[in-house]
Amino acid sequence: MKLVLATRNLGKVKELTTMLDTANKHQNIQILSLQDFPDAPEVIEDRDTYQENAAKKATVIADWTGHRTLADDAGLEVDALDGAPGVHSKRWAGEDATDAIRIQKLLEAIEGAASRKARFVAAIAIAEPNDSKSVKIVVGKCEGHITQTPAGESGFGYDPIFVPNGYEKTFAELGETIKNRISHRGEALRLALELL
Ligand code: IMP
Repeated sequence: MKLVLATRNLGKVKELTTMLDTANKHQNIQILSLQDFPDAPEVIEDRDTYQENAAKKATVIADWTGHRTLADDAGLEVDALDGAPGVHSKRWAGEDATDAIRIQKLLEAIEGAASRKARFVAAIAIAEPNDSKSVKIVVGKCEGHITQTPAGESGFGYDPIFVPNGYEKTFAELGETIKNRISHRGEALRLALELL
């Protein structure tokens, strides 16, 4: 069975491929990504929820590639910011902002806040080609808090400033193996694999 990962984000392709490979022992899944479909359309994530964005991406890419497609949408919800950046995590600091700029903006926005509690949330959708009603959606979460300063090199996005509950290091310090085990995307992916 072929499964297209509807993302061009190399960090995400690596994370999802590793997790799918690990789970692939008993399943015969050939993993492709948008790297294999360079002309696939850019899907605008303009919906109000992670679930709707993931479903839109999975459906458009499944129809375009003709293969079963897995898409995710995720974000970081910070209590002191009433859940922002949330579903707008990617564009929160402007269209062309780098991860470093996003991190800096977030640290400044919660400077002195009473709570630094936050959570990552991920929705994963799986769609069959030309059958928009077939789309299935699951959600995973990871609770934690935002550090005072960035630390660590691995992962992507807000990983250097997020410490998951039960740990004292950021996702970027904990590294891929631990992150995949406890992350929002890891939880959602395990639920999604049950659907495959
Ligand atoms: P996306 O739309 O799922 O790519 O996620 C939107 C944004 O949320 C990303 O650009 C990252 O800034 C942030 N994000 C999502 N998942 C993660 C994660 O696992 N680690 C760090 N940042 C993340």
